[in-house]
Amino acid sequence: MSRAAQASETGMASELPTYTRWPITLARGEGSTVWDEAGKGYLDLYGGHAVASTGHAHPEVVRAISEQAKTLLFYSNVVGLGIRTRAADAIARHAPAPLSKVFFVNSGTEANENAMRLARRATGRTDVLSFHGGFHGRTADAISAAGLEKYRALGEPNVPGHRLAPFGDLGAADALLDGRVAAVLLEPIQSLAGVLTAAPEYFHGLRRLCDGRGAKLIYDEVQTGFGRTGTFFFAGRHGVVPDLVTLAKGIASGVPMGAVLVSEEIAAGVKPEEYGTTFGGGPLACAAAEATVRVIESEGLLENVRRGSERLRAGLAKLPGVREVRGEGFLLGIVLDRPGKPVREALMARGILVGGSDLPDVLRLLPPLVLREEEIDRFLAAMGEVL
Ligand SMILES: Cc1ncc(COP(=O)(O)O)c(C=O)c1O
Repeated sequence: MSRAAQASETGMASELPTYTRWPITLARGEGSTVWDEAGKGYLDLYGGHAVASTGHAHPEVVRAISEQAKTLLFYSNVVGLGIRTRAADAIARHAPAPLSKVFFVNSGTEANENAMRLARRATGRTDVLSFHGGFHGRTADAISAAGLEKYRALGEPNVPGHRLAPFGDLGAADALLDGRVAAVLLEPIQSLAGVLTAAPEYFHGLRRLCDGRGAKLIYDEVQTGFGRTGTFFFAGRHGVVPDLVTLAKGIASGVPMGAVLVSEEIAAGVKPEEYGTTFGGGPLACAAAEATVRVIESEGLLENVRRGSERLRAGLAKLPGVREVRGEGFLLGIVLDRPGKPVREALMARGILVGGSDLPDVLRLLPPLVLREEEIDRFLAAMGEVL
């Protein structure tokens, strides 16, 4: 197919070519399945980029959105909204103390921008320490914190005051954490970098270092939050609670939304007019977020993630060509003994979607939290055939 014909087929003729697009055009979705315009179904272990937390078009989320749209489509933060209060309460209920306040924004990158600003203003300091391999979004401050060089370079000239340490190396963080550092920002599981994890002592160590040096600890839970790792948040895992947590992706099951969870102490220093956004905390997104929390609770999705993750790991470990399975819950990295792209494409041809990563030999699974056992088995069988 010619480039122009391909561009038009995947909808790129009049769109800026931002992503390398997969050769499919989707029309609808339900649960963990999406269908293309010709009616071919795909089991979605990519979750629309880790977004479809309750699955595609969950009836409870769709009902909440459509009722809200009929009632009040939008009003900004200059007024109170019952649905905003309920969404914030629902999220805060799951947050470990002292995280207690929710600031709604519109995306992951905006959440990170605001978390860094909250930390700078709370400490009166300027700098941010982040980690090689990390990804935090594409706006100026967030991209300057990227530990993946190719993204950071796209944001040049970068915001000054960003420092990088190797992920998992406490001594390196210690050496860089001086009195100018306002915040330590990390993905607790580095997803795009190839699903890299760190030992519990590392999180304890970072918390201790931040406390000792007066810096704030920020977890970027844009991917790990909202149940993806089998607990509601990574915050609180190993007994470590950061001062700020950023959220997006699965928070509203696909309606654009981000949020910052803020500690009691930092929130106490915030005055009206210092932070804001027109659309953040809008009623439609809040209705979707509240329904998402409700579905995670009522359908036991955290348990489903933990059980499903074990099944995936056990099944994958038996397959030839799989060197290692990394990550937690439904944020898994499959390390192959060969390049991942042809494997991903062969799975797509068999009607299964999986993600790639920054490492050519690591595929990523970021499925909806509703993924069922029989769907996992279908994926494992197809993966076996492809490998
Ligand atoms: C860990 C992490 N943080 C931040 C972002 C940026 O989120 P958004 O694309 O909603 O701005 C992403 C997006 O992939 C991410 O994976």
